[in-house]
Amino acid sequence: MKTTEYKFSYEVYEDSTELAPADAQLLETARTATQRAWAPYSHFRVGAAARMQNGEIVTGANQENASYPAGICAESVLLATAGVNWPGLPIDTLAVSYQGDDILNDHPISPCGICRQRIKEFEERTQQPIRLILAGQTGQIYIIPDANLLMPLAFTANELPL
Ligand code: THU
Repeated sequence: MKTTEYKFSYEVYEDSTELAPADAQLLETARTATQRAWAPYSHFRVGAAARMQNGEIVTGANQENASYPAGICAESVLLATAGVNWPGLPIDTLAVSYQGDDILNDHPISPCGICRQRIKEFEERTQQPIRLILAGQTGQIYIIPDANLLMPLAFTANELPL
């Protein structure tokens, strides 16, 4: 028996003034995209914005449903939009923010497990890592160099007898 270890590093910024201008702008777009969420049930509006390899900016926001499991996360809306409108084009950077009623919105959130799985497959489809910028409306910002780092030992198409 042996024990192996999984570690990863990410950057922590105190606020968006410390970011490169293109990153600050993308984060601002994600923060604004929260306004396009449909979240009457959770009142938790998530916004996502991605810079594609060709410089296009794609946005997403969560779209909930009275049948709760039918709701779609902001990141998944964005990935589907990108995949349909720019098939095969990699995403360079994906920013995620949120805005909730009566909560502070002052720290980063991280994509849910299903979105991590979808982000991972998008990386594989396009053969390029996706850099993540995670932040609330204020407060610290995390930059994760490759979303794949959030999904160790993932189940992928490699396990399927294709
Ligand atoms: N949500 C997202 O859109 N992205 C995440 O990364 C976490 C959760 C949405 C799903 C649901 O509409 C609401 O936030 C509360 O879970």
